[in-house]
Amino acid sequence: MKLIIYNGKGGVGKTSVSAATARRLAQKGHRTIIMSVDTAHSLGDSFDVKLGPEIVNVLPNLDALELDIMYEMRTKWASIKEYASAFMLSQGLEGVSAEEMAIIPGMEMVAALLYVLTFRNEGKYDVVVIDTAPTGETLRLLSFPDVSNWYIDKMFSVVSKLMGVARITIGHIMDFPLPSKEVMESVMELKDQMKKVKSILEDSENTVVRLVLNPERMAINETRRSYTYMCLYNKNVECLIVNKVIPESADGAFISEKLKEQRRYMEAIHESFDPLKIMTAEMMPTELRGSEKLDKLADMIFGDSDPIESYSRESPMKFVSSPDGSDELRLRMPFVDRGSVELFKGNQNSIMILVGSQKRTVTLPTTLANAEILGADFEGDCLVIRFKRD
Ligand SMILES: Nc1ncnc2c1ncn2[C@@H]1O[C@H](COP(=O)(O)OP(=O)(O)OP(=O)(O)O)[C@@H](O)[C@H]1O
Ligand SMILES: [Mg+2]
Repeated sequence: MKLIIYNGKGGVGKTSVSAATARRLAQKGHRTIIMSVDTAHSLGDSFDVKLGPEIVNVLPNLDALELDIMYEMRTKWASIKEYASAFMLSQGLEGVSAEEMAIIPGMEMVAALLYVLTFRNEGKYDVVVIDTAPTGETLRLLSFPDVSNWYIDKMFSVVSKLMGVARITIGHIMDFPLPSKEVMESVMELKDQMKKVKSILEDSENTVVRLVLNPERMAINETRRSYTYMCLYNKNVECLIVNKVIPESADGAFISEKLKEQRRYMEAIHESFDPLKIMTAEMMPTELRGSEKLDKLADMIFGDSDPIESYSRESPMKFVSSPDGSDELRLRMPFVDRGSVELFKGNQNSIMILVGSQKRTVTLPTTLANAEILGADFEGDCLVIRFKRD
């Protein structure tokens, strides 16, 4: 089962491109589901059908879902939610805000990926398309297994330690509620699922990211940044889709200036991203909504080809071992200012790479757990970190 995640800056056309892709996949005979994980859902609008938090069928081979995290929590994680809310309330956070606080940042994506896990086990779909919220948020979500595990560990390890203490100090009133056995079991189960979810995200053969942008400065800059971070998070960015391209046939003085500018930006895109596969879709004169328009968009992007096709299987990060006992971690990090990269050796078989304000902890393979870091240098756009095994 393939998982295609569409991402990009606000308003570039992620939802439209996701919807168009999903329709085309279904038309090509793939059993497809599209999920929107943006809290400001517009997928239903794009399809011009009503969607909600339960899976509905929109056309043969195509199901759709607008994920609602409150709904997921209510229906699937009720015991955790209740406990988290009670915990927040005990800390002086009231009512609805406590419910909302119980939602871990990145929880939408976790919920979406838990669906993906189920779909994979059931074998019900050939391909899952995820339409995400704008870049910044999604970048954070991509590191979510670490973030969520941290949150869960922090909250529940403190709690389980205190439960031990509480047993000794019977009669003592605690200033927060203790979780029931049921809650702890749900938490353990969620943690277990999170591990599996992480393996889906790390499966660069079947899980791919496609970045949508427009031929304009801000979108290009943001795409460069997110491409770097996707590499850092080991995501397989297999293509770019440049949407809202003004057709070369457009005329008028205003448009001809705009076209000149656009040509410069298209060049900039190629300079930055070649040899990555780049597809384009033209700006349409009217609102992009409903089946006909979506199919036209799919025609522009995919032509006759099948959107399930893999454009790149290469993982942006790999370990290379040589027989002489030296090893390299090669991380493709284009568009990174060399001076802004910092490396730290962590205590548990890991190194931390800092690029600007983002950080990534890379767990080293056991063979490198105690290896000495000999140094790091750029070879082209590749950060090469050299290790010596002891
Ligand atoms: N090729 C196109 N031609 C004309 N209009 C387009 C095209 N692509 C997208 N649009 C329009 O641009 C607007 C934004 O598109 P869309 O909602 O798909 O973007 P988005 O990236 O999902 O936005 P958000 O970040 O808000 O989720 C919509 O009104 C959509 O109809
Ligand atoms: Mg959208």
